[in-house]
Parts: sequence; C-alpha cells; structure tokens
Amino acid sequence: MNKQSEKLAKAIAYEAKKKKERDEDKRPAFHVTPTTGWCNDPNGFSRFGEEYHLFYQYYPYENKWGPMHWGHCRTKDFIKWEELPCALAPDMEYDGQGCFSGTAVEHEGKHILMYTSVLEKDLEDGTHMVRQTQSIAIGDGENYEKVAENPVITADCLPEGSSPVDFRDPKIWKEDGRFYALIGSKAEDGSGQLALFTSEDALHWNYEKMIDQCKNRYGKMWECPDFFALDGCQVLIVSPQFMRAEGLEFHNGNNSIYFTGDYEKEAMTYTRGDARQVDYGMDFYAPQTVETTDGRRVMIAWLQSWDNFMTPEDMDWTGLMTIPRELHVEDGSLVQLPVREIENYYTGEHSYENVTLENQSAELDGITGRSFDMTVEVKKEDLEGFSILLACDDENYTELYYNRYQELFTVDRTYSGLVRDVICSRSMKVANEKETIKFRIVMDKYTIEVFANDGKQAMTTLIYTDLKSQGIVFSSDGKATFSVTQHTITM
Ligand code: FRU
Repeated sequence: MNKQSEKLAKAIAYEAKKKKERDEDKRPAFHVTPTTGWCNDPNGFSRFGEEYHLFYQYYPYENKWGPMHWGHCRTKDFIKWEELPCALAPDMEYDGQGCFSGTAVEHEGKHILMYTSVLEKDLEDGTHMVRQTQSIAIGDGENYEKVAENPVITADCLPEGSSPVDFRDPKIWKEDGRFYALIGSKAEDGSGQLALFTSEDALHWNYEKMIDQCKNRYGKMWECPDFFALDGCQVLIVSPQFMRAEGLEFHNGNNSIYFTGDYEKEAMTYTRGDARQVDYGMDFYAPQTVETTDGRRVMIAWLQSWDNFMTPEDMDWTGLMTIPRELHVEDGSLVQLPVREIENYYTGEHSYENVTLENQSAELDGITGRSFDMTVEVKKEDLEGFSILLACDDENYTELYYNRYQELFTVDRTYSGLVRDVICSRSMKVANEKETIKFRIVMDKYTIEVFANDGKQAMTTLIYTDLKSQGIVFSSDGKATFSVTQHTITM
C-alpha cells in the first residue's frame, strides 16, 4: 500500500513550490499544461462523480522525460481545469522505473486507475532486465493507493513470442458488470498486437485473446489503444511507433491512427477497415477518450511529439494537451470539433463578411491575438490560394496556406522563431463540393489547432513564438473573398 510515499510527497511539495513561482501569463489559458516540468500522454481521462479527471505522464523535476509520475487535474466543462497534486509516483519495486500510461474507470464510488508499472534491474548474470506489467491504484479523486495485488497483469499469460518488455498502456472499461482491459503488446514479428483481458473485480484478470495484430502493416509497437462504440461502429485508436509515410498520411514516425469497424462482443472479434490519420499535424499523439454524461465521446491528446522537441530553454514546463474534441463518425471517418463548452468562454467578437483581397495582404481591424477561436470561410470562385499568418510581427510568423488547385492545406512554422532544426511544415488534403472552403482555428498562445470542413480533417501544431507577436494577416493569390469571425478567449 502506498500512503503517500516519500517520492510522492517530494513531488507534491516540489510542484507546490514551483506553482508559486511560475508566470501564469506565459502559460496557455485553456489547455492542460503540466504543473511544472515535463508531460507526455494523457492518462486516466474519465468521469468520476460529477467531474472529469485527467492525469498525464509527468516528470516534475525537469523539462525532459524522466521516471514517470502521474500528474492530475479535473474539470466540469473541459475548458477550465483545476490542478490537483501529483497522483502517482514510481515508488514501488514493481514500478520503480515509471508509472507509464493507463486509463481509469469509476466503480462503486471509487476511482480505479490501471497503469503500466515498469521495473528495470541489473541481474546477477550481468544482464539488464526490463519488465512492463499492469498495476492498479484506487482512489477518491485526489488520493490514490496502489493495491497489494500489484502487478495485477504480467506478460506471462500472453501467447508465446510476445514481448515482456513492450506490454503497456491499458485501456480499461466496465460493461455489463465486467471489467475489460485492452493492452498494447509486441508480437514475435516485432509489430503491434492488442491483448484483451477480463475481470470480475479489477484485481484478478484473465487473458482472453488478441483482438488485433498489426503484422507489420502499420508501424511497430502499438501504443495507447482506445476502443469504443460510436455512431453505429466500433472505433479503435492506436499510436504506432515507427510508421512509414504513405501519401500525405503518417508523416510523424510516431503517429496516431484510427480504424472504424465491427465488434462482436460475445466472440470478442474485431473486424476493421484501413487505417486513417487522426490528426495531420506535427504535434499530436496518444489520444484518449471519455464518454460524457450527455453521451458525447470526447478526445484529448498530447500536443507535442516524440519527433520534434522545440521547448525554449528558459521554460520550466513542456508538453501540454489538445483542446478536448467531440467525436463523431461520418461515412466511416472520424469528425472532430472542439467541445461546445468553449463557447462559454468567448469574451469578444470581431466579424467580417465578404472581404475581397486581390493579390493583396491585409490585417482586419480588431482581429489579432494569441487566444481565440476563429472561423474563416473563403469563396472558391476565382480563388487560387490564400494564406493566414498567425503570431505575426516584423520577425515572426506561422503561415497557414491553402492551394485551391491542389486542394492542399499547409501549416509552416519555419519563421515562428525556431532556433532548432525541427520539422516545420505539414500538409493535408482539404476538399469539398461546396462554394466555400472553411477552416476553424483555435489558438492558445503556443498552439494552433485547425479543423477543416467542419471537423473532417484536423491539424495540430505547436509554436513557441514570443508572446509579443500578436498579429494576424490575411493574403490572397488571385481573388479571395473572406468571411471571418474571431472570438477571443480569456479565462
Ligand atoms: C507513448 C508512451 C507510452 C508509455 C509512455 C511513457 O507516448 O511511450 O507507450 O506508456 O509514453 O511515458
């Protein structure tokens, strides 16, 4: 049992101290950001009582990945978040090298977390052992205790050839009085597979079967699975490591992809179609979803990537989460838009209708800033292309460009003030049969989340442009007629 171990108490004291010192104005306004230090994947995104909880992979002491803790916060509306003390520290023998990613479920008034416990040690024969197992911590929404039965799932029960090292990121849920856990595993061929377990009490688990095997088709190890029914089909989201790019898809190396398919519950058989990219941006990984009390499926993801690290040296936090997004499936594809609660935080509005630019650039009076929700609709008539420069001044800008003939939308952060050589631009196809093309852009100081065609495509980008760069400039190639509505967001 873990009645606030020394390691956990140290992390909580450290984050309390750092919280007092930090400059709130430099932190994003409505995106979850680690209390201090490093964060990666969202964890345990779940409903508990009247609120939604979010944990995250967390190393409070430095701006880089280290032995993983679980940071913690909660919300009533996905926009305003309350920071809570660190929930888990790597303080047991079986998880001493880290409390890796996992999920959570409410059961009989208790909050059950399942996470990957990582053990590493040098053996007497001179070899180094790494073991990933699954463990449980149970809590009341603020304090969590690891159970005496830990680890509750080990790789021993997996089919022969499955790796005991790569066995992580359980997705736990409850259905018809039973618990289920879907866990990422690596098969003998080195690629991802998903192991399904069941339990009556969340402490004793039975291996059922592999419900999917990648067979080297989509990258290697499948990290962070999520699995849920939505709009008449069964959605599987995974984040495979080491993917090859195909066309405009899967450019990140570590990507988040989804499948829509059918699930036969009795037989535990999943049949799926082809993989699609969840988000086309450079900074999106390891999404998790929760079902809200009013039946919406809401997704949140890590808004950074393993492949680009750009955090300025003077920042004492790094990594943050996307805006939570409502999901739907339309014609077999995921559609995602910011949670509707964002509208409750609009504090100002500037609107323009049918502003025509012909091979010109213009600022629109009042449209500026770094924290907003803006919709831009452009008539296709004589359009060749248009661009929107964000976080712009004499030195810096990030360009959003749409090429009408190629139907390509590109984000380019080359001139965002970067001082490191990282990947700077990404494109996605945005097409429709309509007379206008529409983009919604949500910005929160360092983050640009673009939702095209009412959420049919999304692209997420991180920039660390100095906050003094506040300009927004519209330009056209040929004739472009813009209608723009910008809502500023202040908390
Ligand atoms: C994905 C991941 C998970 C792991 C965690 C460790 O980003 O690699 O597979 O549990 O991060 O921090």
